Amino acid sequence: LGNGGSDRFLYLLAMPAIFAKAPGKIILLGEHAVVYGQPAIAVPVNQVQAKAMVTPNPQNQPGLIILDAPQIHLLADLNGLPSNHPLAAAVRLTLAHIGAAHPPALTIRVTSTIPIAGGLGSGAAVSVAIIRALSDYLGSPLPDDQVSGLAYEVEKIHHTHPSGVDNTVITRAKPVYFQKGLPIEVFDIRTPFTIVIGDTGVAAQTSDVVQDVRCRYESEPEKYARIFNSIGELTCLAYHAITDGENHGLGGMMNANHELLVEMGVSSPELNALVQAARQAGAAGAKLSGAGRGGNMIALVNPEHAETVSAALKTAGAVNTIITTIQTQIGMIE
Ligand code: PMV
Repeated sequence: LGNGGSDRFLYLLAMPAIFAKAPGKIILLGEHAVVYGQPAIAVPVNQVQAKAMVTPNPQNQPGLIILDAPQIHLLADLNGLPSNHPLAAAVRLTLAHIGAAHPPALTIRVTSTIPIAGGLGSGAAVSVAIIRALSDYLGSPLPDDQVSGLAYEVEKIHHTHPSGVDNTVITRAKPVYFQKGLPIEVFDIRTPFTIVIGDTGVAAQTSDVVQDVRCRYESEPEKYARIFNSIGELTCLAYHAITDGENHGLGGMMNANHELLVEMGVSSPELNALVQAARQAGAAGAKLSGAGRGGNMIALVNPEHAETVSAALKTAGAVNTIITTIQTQIGMIE
């Protein structure tokens, strides 16, 4: 290397496959209000993840990039995909950002165990995995803020007013206290705690729910401003509780946040049933997580109650549950 472009090209042809992974996420408190400038707390969920694998295709024409995402039945030439296709956008934005005008022939295979449209950040995780794998492969690994910034651009395709919380927590793979326009605060969990995630199995598009909240806010600005402020106050209290290692009050704060989300109109009978079931089975608190109307809810539990709450959620209709310990993550996921 070091003596010209052709050597670099040969080097890329000889490159082995490179992959990157990104975790799912849950929002502990603050969804929707975060779109209107309030803080949110989000944490990674490493039990589910998206993976992007970049493999050289020296037999193909240089520049031919194949996107292969079997779970969404996608096997296509990048050039044939529309500009608003989120996977294609992640690739194009990365190539443009690193100035790779003539990339070698590649296949990018994308797989994910994060449920789609479930509020666990599947879209942002796929983007982050693609951006990392592709930039690494092309010899220009990007720092977190740039990875997150590019993923945010893709988020804008999913919905027009993303707060940026998903791409931030998923890129950092650490707990974050996020407020639009303020420096990102990655924080330590003093006392780990256990969350059971329950999936309603109902797919809900974040963009539709966010848009609906905007319409409601525009027709009743005072009511919605009050709800957003109350959620912001709860989130702030919860952040201090978590960073002080005083988690006792957290369940009550999650319950109160859920009631405000109900008032906002973003819950659903399925979510309310799971929230109720978790509380009855001994959870300290429970709420919907993410955009709502479907997707996932979360319950704060004593570790010894986790299996009971998980079973109660399944009896109440959850199609899947995940038990996860929220703690400070050291380094990237395995
Ligand atoms: O449903 P999810 O995981 O995409 O979470 C959306 C969170 C919202 O606050 C509703 C939207 C946003 O951009 O923050």
